[in-house]
Amino acid sequence: MKILCIGAGYVGGPTMAMIARECPDITVTVVDVNEERILAWQSDELPIYEPGLKEVVDETLGRNLFFSTDVGKGIEEADIIFVSVNTPTKTFGHGSGRAADLQYLEKTARNILAHAKSDKIIVEKSTVPVRTADAMNRILNSRNSDCSFEVLSNPEFLAEGSAVKDLENPDRILIGGHDTEAGRKAMQTLVDIYARWVPKERIITTNVWSSELSKLAANALLAQRVSSINSLSALCEATGADVGEVASAVGRDSRIGPRFLNASVGFGGSCFRKDILNLVYLCESCGLHELGEYWHQVVRVNDYQQDRFVGGMISNMFNTISGKRIALFGFAFKADTGDTRESPAIRIAKQLAEERANVVISDPRALDNARIDLGDLGDRVAYDEDPYKAAEKAHALAIMTEWPCYKQLDYQRIFDSMLKPAFAFDGRRILDHQKLYEMGFNVYSIGRAPLTHLDA
Ligand code: UDX
Ligand code: UDX
Repeated sequence: MKILCIGAGYVGGPTMAMIARECPDITVTVVDVNEERILAWQSDELPIYEPGLKEVVDETLGRNLFFSTDVGKGIEEADIIFVSVNTPTKTFGHGSGRAADLQYLEKTARNILAHAKSDKIIVEKSTVPVRTADAMNRILNSRNSDCSFEVLSNPEFLAEGSAVKDLENPDRILIGGHDTEAGRKAMQTLVDIYARWVPKERIITTNVWSSELSKLAANALLAQRVSSINSLSALCEATGADVGEVASAVGRDSRIGPRFLNASVGFGGSCFRKDILNLVYLCESCGLHELGEYWHQVVRVNDYQQDRFVGGMISNMFNTISGKRIALFGFAFKADTGDTRESPAIRIAKQLAEERANVVISDPRALDNARIDLGDLGDRVAYDEDPYKAAEKAHALAIMTEWPCYKQLDYQRIFDSMLKPAFAFDGRRILDHQKLYEMGFNVYSIGRAPLTHLDA
């Protein structure tokens, strides 16, 4: 059997590497229009950083895992084609800012049609609006061809930073297909592949639309949880409650559960914002405007949390940060990844630069992406991988990403090198606030009352 994946990104690359590892008898080829990316997958420096991924690729590359730019040849040879191209939020025309831009998906469907010479199962891996499989089906069957195509939906739930673990041991595998003989047969083929390493009871089959909607729903519910705890974090700062204590107390309720309740500067990543906006658009398209508003609020609270964080920095630093050096610790949207897509640090760095602060960005993995994201700001922003150097002569440091290395720094050394009064803003609640306060820092953390020497 031959599997092809179109799109060698954060989803396509790791997912296919795992299938190749678990199914040594299946040839897995990943193609992409981006040649640089393909070359990187074949090199010692993978295009994405994921703990454990290099080992999986090393084991399989050249054995039964191949990367190539020859999309046509890949299509011709494949029995199963995973489509994992990006589906960003539209930035133009109808539905701009909310609807998904499906141009790459449609191009891919047309490309499959142009090159296919035998029957194929097409697996929608990209997150898509509900009923996209239908559209793909129609394109694929728009020409009298001898080949038949069966479209399945198989959304990916891996989270970045834990991709390999999530792929090895997923909570569930979701496969949506049509309730026809061909549909059931295609679903079974895919079930059999995952069943090589995933317990059968975790493989769920549904109709196509439930599967498509479940992916949007899962991301919307997760993001909603973060916005909910973040909304409470503001209330904690105002009242003297501690959002960590509140999260732990409510999380003990087994109906609520303890995970995904870390208050922060806000959620980032390529999916949450895009998928909620997509859901909002879907609600509106169905005439369900109140429900669209309801979900939209999750994104608004996320933006508000970032604006509130910057507002707090300005007001606590005597209402001006103009000319002040501010070190941002972390730029990735979460720890253990170099990915910065939709990272709260982008919006925050831009706002600080707008206030004419001298922003210095530090991050162990994401500085290359940060330079691209903040390219417009030119030399109004500096970069230094070494957090000690970034904080030298700074008025303030602010934690943007919960990298474990930031917990272990010598904060006395950092404090001694900073201008006074020295400020620490903890956007991820990872520092020992009491200890920093005792060193002399004025400490402001998301979700708890400040610890400051300034009122004395
Ligand atoms: C993408 C989608 O954004 C996400 O919604 C979905 O759930 C999975 O696929 P990701 O893998 O993170 O997520 O995207 P990205 O890293 O941008 O990878 C997409 C790749 O597809 C890129 O490497 C791009 O070059 C490639 N691509 C895109 C093609 O090969 N052909 C195209 O026509 C368009
Ligand atoms: C998410 C989903 O978890 C995954 O199932 C889906 O396939 C893709 O989108 P990802 O974006 O990689 O994965 O990361 P995730 O761990 O979900 O975190 C998203 C954002 O929320 C990050 O910015 C993270 O820092 C933030 N977050 C998460 C919080 O602020 N608090 C939390 O308690 C959890």
